[in-house]
Amino acid sequence: MNYGIKSILEKKELDSNDIITLLKCDDEQAVFLFNSAANVREKYLGNNVYLRGLIEYSNICGKNCLYCGIRRENRKIRRYTLTKDEVIESALYAYRMNFGSIAIQAGENTSSAFVEEIENLIRIIRRKTDNKLGITLSLGEQDRDVYQRWFDAGAHRYLLRIETSSIDLYRKVHPDDRMHDYYRRLDCLRAIQDIGYQTGTGVMIGLPFQTINNLADDLIFMRDFDIDMCGMGPFIEHSDTPLGLNGTNNLFLRERVGLTLRMIAILRIIMKNINIVASTAMQTVDRTGREKAIMCGANIIMPNLTPARYRDDYKIYAGKPGYAEVDEDNISGLDLGLLPGISIGLGKWGDAAHFAARRSVSSD
Ligand code: 5AD
Ligand code: SF4
Repeated sequence: MNYGIKSILEKKELDSNDIITLLKCDDEQAVFLFNSAANVREKYLGNNVYLRGLIEYSNICGKNCLYCGIRRENRKIRRYTLTKDEVIESALYAYRMNFGSIAIQAGENTSSAFVEEIENLIRIIRRKTDNKLGITLSLGEQDRDVYQRWFDAGAHRYLLRIETSSIDLYRKVHPDDRMHDYYRRLDCLRAIQDIGYQTGTGVMIGLPFQTINNLADDLIFMRDFDIDMCGMGPFIEHSDTPLGLNGTNNLFLRERVGLTLRMIAILRIIMKNINIVASTAMQTVDRTGREKAIMCGANIIMPNLTPARYRDDYKIYAGKPGYAEVDEDNISGLDLGLLPGISIGLGKWGDAAHFAARRSVSSD
């Protein structure tokens, strides 16, 4: 039996060494870890998985992250921005299909035209859905007053991945300039939380130079920051980026999936009532990666609702599914046969229970 793991899992609070031990556990021990995490999810959040219909609004990005396929300097892709009508149509589809929430995502754009268009879109979508559709934003680093404007317009969750909590590693996977400043990103995350958004962050797993200690620190960062939501997934090389020039080693990719599952499970155990995404990157590496993530404690799925003709142009990493995975008979795109006992939470925002708890403590 795996007494080492078992005694760690019985502790009230895990320290860095405990987390490292769990991250390094073998596949047999991992079964135990995954089951414990699934039990925590069930106990604290029940068995619902919630949906965020993903609208990839634009692939125009001012930044140049060394890992990302839509970085500014990649001239091989066609840049697009959805029209107002296309966004509204996608949002209304989500509403009709009872998704509960949408997530609007785009490359980083700080122009005033962009900021205004997003603000308008939020207001229109709120109005056309009787304020019933939850709105998550994932639009990168912005000035505090922009975050505030979008919040006032009716968005209530914001996802900004820290990508890695290690300053050294952050500097290795980003250009060395003022546009890619770790501390600025951290300040943005603080502003988002301070304004009152449900605040999400996350990291990539398997980045070049990344160590197990870095990953343990990432989890501790999320706990210390008291985040409400997390999206994390395996790093996948993209051949048109500086970090992807040498192609991909499949074995490493498989290892990254195992490590991502361990990260999700440990995060669920140390932050019991937050929302954790089963990411598309997981599905890209392993056809049933998202189902596995759910069985390890994840509880959010982001089915892609971007109009089909733009899908190929939002290739952040290699192999990202460009096909329609959602249809009216199965709006989550999940293989529910692999998920005994799990149901899709329809028509509800599916807010993080953690957020309500955090609010009531801070307003006391
Ligand atoms: N592999 C996996 N994830 C990536 N992202 C960007 N590039 C890659 C890649 N090559 C993730 C980042 C970013 C999100 C939009 O996509 O974490 O925050
Ligand atoms: Fe732009 Fe985000 Fe890609 Fe960086 S990761 S290049 S900010 S879309």
